[in-house]
Amino acid sequence: MLQEIVHKNRSYRRFYQDVPIKLETLRELADLARLSASAMNLQPLKYVLSCEPKRNAMIFPNLGWAAYLKEWKGPEEGERPSAYIIVLLDTQIGPSAGCDHGIAAQSILLGATEKGLGGCMIATINRKELSKVLNLEPHYEIVLVIALGKPKETVVIDKVGPDGSVKYWRDDQGVHHVPKRALDDIIVGE
Ligand SMILES: Cc1cc2nc3c(=O)[nH]c(=O)nc-3n(C[C@H](O)[C@H](O)[C@H](O)COP(=O)(O)O)c2cc1C
Repeated sequence: MLQEIVHKNRSYRRFYQDVPIKLETLRELADLARLSASAMNLQPLKYVLSCEPKRNAMIFPNLGWAAYLKEWKGPEEGERPSAYIIVLLDTQIGPSAGCDHGIAAQSILLGATEKGLGGCMIATINRKELSKVLNLEPHYEIVLVIALGKPKETVVIDKVGPDGSVKYWRDDQGVHHVPKRALDDIIVGE
């Protein structure tokens, strides 16, 4: 089961924008983040949930999409995420998120996958502008944005080829290919 969900949990960047995600669903996903591991159990992460089209439209321009797909400027109107979870560091609790946000984001995306949704972690963020848009108090730092929606693209995993490239790419059919290193290439001792 978990192997299947992890396999299915790819980064999706095109969505059926007209399929809404309920606030309650976002709250359930944030609850998975809440229960995840946290260094020193400090739990310095806080979350902004967005599923309103107007607010989503204000978030979207502050995100950077798929750096390896040079010709692609990100999802077009109609294929944009229908929700976002914005992961914040509350600097009043701790000075650094450590790797808490990666763990929290993975919990959220695994939960989303289980619900038939998909998404993408986004660290390429115009943080200054997005903080303004979200009207955040100064003690919150944006660490990660998780875009969510009903995926409208097929993503397949390939083996890293002999050229060693890890760059994802899109074929003529629009299928997104993600090269992953072989298991024997990542285990350096056993
Ligand atoms: C910390 C982190 C930051 C990322 N930031 C971005 C980003 O800014 N924009 C984007 O399109 N994808 C981003 N991604 C998605 C990666 O490109 C993606 O995980 C990678 O291509 C492998 O694909 P997979 O998630 O399907 O395994 C990020 C992923 C991680 C883990």
